[in-house]
Amino acid sequence: MALSLATAAVLLLSGVSAQPAPSVQKGITAAIKAAANATGPLDYTEFVNVFVGTDNYGDVCPGASIPFGMVKVNTDLTGYAPAGYVTDPTQFIRGLSPMHDSGTGSSLGTYGNFEIMPLSCPGGFNTCTTRLAARERLRKNNTDVASPGYFAQTMDNNFLMEATATRRAALERFTFPSKAGKRYFVLDLANDLPQSFAGGTMDIDATNGRITLGGLWGSSFGPGRFNYQAFACYDLLNGGNQTLSEWGTWSGNPYGLDAKALGMTHLNLSRSLIGDTYESGALFSFEGEPESIIIRVGISFVSTDQACSNAESEIGTSTFEDIHAQAKALWNEKLSKIEIDVPNTPENITELLYTSLYRSSLTPNNATDETQGLFANTSSFYFDSLYCSWDTFRTFYPLMSLHSPVEFSQIVDSYIDGWRKNGWMPECRANNLPGAQGGSSGDVIVSHFATHYHNEAAELGINLQELYQAAWTDGQVNPPEWDVEGRQSNLYNQYGYVPFDVIDPTSTGRQTREGSRTIEYAFEDFAIRQIALLLNNTADEALFANRSLNYRNVWDPTVESDGFKGFAQKRYPNGKFNYTNPTHCSPVDNVTTECSLQPDNTNGFYESSSWEYSWFAPHDTAHLIELMGGNATFVKRLNHFFSAGYFNVGNEPSFQTPIGYHYANEPASSVARVRQVVFENFDITPAGLPGNDDQAAMASLLTFHLLGLYPVPSTTQYLILSPFTPKYTIHNSYLNVSTTVNVVGFDPKSVQKTIPANTKAFVANVTVNGVPTASRCHFDFYDVFRVGGNVTIELTADKNAANSCLGALPESLSTGGFATVR
Ligand SMILES: *[C@@H]1O[C@H](CO)[C@@H](O)[C@H](O)[C@H]1NC(C)=O
Ligand SMILES: *[C@@H]1O[C@H](CO)[C@@H](O)[C@H](O)[C@H]1NC(C)=O
Ligand SMILES: *[C@@H]1O[C@H](CO)[C@@H](O)[C@H](O)[C@H]1NC(C)=O
Ligand SMILES: *[C@@H]1O[C@H](CO)[C@@H](O)[C@H](O)[C@H]1NC(C)=O
Ligand SMILES: *[C@@H]1O[C@H](CO)[C@@H](O)[C@H](O)[C@H]1NC(C)=O
Ligand SMILES: *[C@@H]1O[C@H](CO)[C@@H](O)[C@H](O)[C@H]1NC(C)=O
Ligand SMILES: *[C@@H]1O[C@H](CO)[C@@H](O)[C@H](O)[C@H]1NC(C)=O
Ligand SMILES: *[C@@H]1O[C@H](CO)[C@@H](O)[C@H](O)[C@H]1NC(C)=O
Ligand SMILES: *[C@@H]1O[C@H](CO)[C@@H](O)[C@H](O)[C@H]1NC(C)=O
Ligand SMILES: *[C@@H]1O[C@H](CO)[C@@H](O)[C@H](O)[C@H]1NC(C)=O
Ligand SMILES: *[C@@H]1O[C@H](CO)[C@@H](O)[C@H](O)[C@H]1NC(C)=O
Ligand SMILES: *[C@@H]1O[C@H](CO)[C@@H](O)[C@H](O)[C@H]1NC(C)=O
Repeated sequence: MALSLATAAVLLLSGVSAQPAPSVQKGITAAIKAAANATGPLDYTEFVNVFVGTDNYGDVCPGASIPFGMVKVNTDLTGYAPAGYVTDPTQFIRGLSPMHDSGTGSSLGTYGNFEIMPLSCPGGFNTCTTRLAARERLRKNNTDVASPGYFAQTMDNNFLMEATATRRAALERFTFPSKAGKRYFVLDLANDLPQSFAGGTMDIDATNGRITLGGLWGSSFGPGRFNYQAFACYDLLNGGNQTLSEWGTWSGNPYGLDAKALGMTHLNLSRSLIGDTYESGALFSFEGEPESIIIRVGISFVSTDQACSNAESEIGTSTFEDIHAQAKALWNEKLSKIEIDVPNTPENITELLYTSLYRSSLTPNNATDETQGLFANTSSFYFDSLYCSWDTFRTFYPLMSLHSPVEFSQIVDSYIDGWRKNGWMPECRANNLPGAQGGSSGDVIVSHFATHYHNEAAELGINLQELYQAAWTDGQVNPPEWDVEGRQSNLYNQYGYVPFDVIDPTSTGRQTREGSRTIEYAFEDFAIRQIALLLNNTADEALFANRSLNYRNVWDPTVESDGFKGFAQKRYPNGKFNYTNPTHCSPVDNVTTECSLQPDNTNGFYESSSWEYSWFAPHDTAHLIELMGGNATFVKRLNHFFSAGYFNVGNEPSFQTPIGYHYANEPASSVARVRQVVFENFDITPAGLPGNDDQAAMASLLTFHLLGLYPVPSTTQYLILSPFTPKYTIHNSYLNVSTTVNVVGFDPKSVQKTIPANTKAFVANVTVNGVPTASRCHFDFYDVFRVGGNVTIELTADKNAANSCLGALPESLSTGGFATVR
């Protein structure tokens, strides 16, 4: 999901003040410089700036986490802060909490349960400001520090909060200035970011210094009637080195309740059926005035007992430094999957690349063995926050397919298990609850896995027949409510498009987005077709190949905009189109109606304009070119798309348009466009993302841009562009191959928004292990990254000479492409 918030508000908020301590960027710059003379292995975590995307509605979580960690610890701030933390210095801190999502765009926020906050209570227990609004504090400006596996923030009273994490637990260290008085802490039972508490309990075991708590909360996206359960176990004694002084409970409400109960150890709150929000939890203090207090927290989606055992098994008696070092090592293992020539790469590019790679392994959250509801005790892997598949199928999973088939297979297992347990694969699983967006993009994700790893699938624990059944079900079996899972396959399969203004007799869902849903369903049908082809299922292959051309059925050839003819439009069951201005919901639109799931979004497209969605048929772009009037018009139209401001860089359907020129045999134009897109929209500051990261969809897109590659999802075809680094190696340790890409003629001067004249930047030719590729526009995973070895991309400054594929264009179904799978 990529909510396009009011652009004016975005501009207003961004860049108020750089909140991370200046030492953060200084340290990264120094580490990159030092790498020039490094002799041993590099510490890639030093190149990561976890603050990128924490401003300008990037919604990135900078919290302490391991790769795919279920626990991501950072502070929660007031205002718009879906991941808890934001850089805006005018927002207030309400505490530190162990669970967050990264890049979700959920306006009310997601998770943030079990928040803890150190307090100063000079008047004693009963005077503590426990309520959310009363306790909130500003940060000490420009002192926030964080890095992979570590988060720290100092408040304006000089109280320092630090955290480090394992998969399901965290260590928190609170350091106090001298004269801070007795150390008090408030802990929330009821509060989470969306204020969705639906009942829970808390127990204080003062003897063992342990607080266990848990309950039910609501989803941050999608159907609002579901609840999930979560539990925490706080250990307060640091192995016996800290002594509790006072403990009890507190409770507050907007009607004047603000009570504390010293010595009370149990709370059992039911859901407020009248709709009130509670504020309630524990309050405790320590003996003496130790400089630091260490608190250990375990999290579980199963029980408080499991939350405690998670903390015991994952942290035990380890020190803060041990756990931090362990998290760093896990990150280095992930980040070193792609090694670049750091000394010869522009510094900002090194930082952008490793920062993007970092976020590309930050989510989804690995909640294996932490399952509930229909998934309780599943023997499959389980991942939470697939938020949403519509965002991640395009670049996130394709990036993972290059270097991490084991992790990819675990997530695919979780998708297939969704079909086993729920009946359909998950689309937007958030907070362990189902939700849906455009269609059933999980089909594309599992298909991408199958095309790349069908030879290894069994060994990786994936049954291809089951994988196919799961995708087939999405395409064929209508769910009762397609806002929850699956897609509206009944009417789509009947009409060949999702009709507008029709009674659906057998399923419900928010009847909007008919144009974009048709276009997405069609591509999902192509994904299903790819698996059928792989399994030699010729009947299904033909059925789904045919359906994948349904994007044509919403093409209205008569609609004109800015002199260009033919646009996707929503359509009535009788075949008539319903006209919407194709510019509506583009970034320069000045119509004030909403563009997401609101009732006044009547344009037929999800978070997009028709200008934007009309480019989307990655499996059949050759035909799209014909629909648009041929190569020359297609290129002219692409250029206009960018110059008129219809390109929406932060929105997933726009991801592939900068590379669209490849399909009209103008690959050098794609190279120039990608340079422009990267430098106009991305940088290494907190505001360095053009909007919501969408579970690292943006991060993985940027990674592909920097590597000079672009994936065609559900196929093994990769489009070739011009890397921003002279040399990189992708390690695939499962296949035991490494592939090194050497860029001959790389000129750092070419790495800017506009490639200067006479500067080598365009692809002259490509060889793989000494053999020239058949086309300089694309190559295949099976010929390159599965084989390993050396890829040489030779550059030229002559854009015109480089502006053709010199061989086959990227494939399209209608021109005989994708005839086989490898
Ligand atoms: C790297 O080594 C060279 C040659 O010894 C030296 O000039 C340069 O300052 C060193 N760079 C860094 C960042 O240490
Ligand atoms: C931090 O900076 C912001 C913006 O200038 C300001 O509103 C706030 O008061 C400052 N915080 C402190 C603790 O001085
Ligand atoms: C408790 O304090 C002792 C003495 O300072 C120290 O050796 C030990 O490591 C501490 N234990 C923990 C869990 O920090
Ligand atoms: C909480 O109270 C409900 C009744 O309102 C009861 O059914 C439940 O067992 C209690 N739970 C605990 C953990 O005390
Ligand atoms: C997820 O957690 C399980 C259980 O610890 C582990 O076996 C698996 O490797 C993890 N996968 C990822 C991608 O983190
Ligand atoms: C599909 O057919 C090809 C060619 O005959 C064969 O190599 C392959 O093993 C078959 N695949 C399956 C899943 O049966
Ligand atoms: C298109 O649909 C809207 C409702 O979404 C309706 O108000 C409008 O009259 C329709 N226009 C045409 C030309 O059918
Ligand atoms: C916005 O509105 C004005 C006046 O109604 C119109 O001229 C203009 O073309 C519209 N579109 C854009 C993108 O500004
Ligand atoms: C576009 O150009 C390519 C290669 O030059 C050519 O094969 C194709 O037929 C052209 N497409 C159209 C619709 O003219
Ligand atoms: C690196 O990024 C920073 C922050 O965006 C920018 O100020 C600086 O100009 C960039 N440096 C180069 C060489 O592009
Ligand atoms: C590749 O392109 C470069 C630059 O145009 C040229 O010098 C070289 O001969 C070409 N190599 C091959 C194998 O075509
Ligand atoms: C790749 O190039 C390196 C260095 O040029 C060379 O040592 C290696 O043998 C090459 N590998 C292959 C598979 O050609």
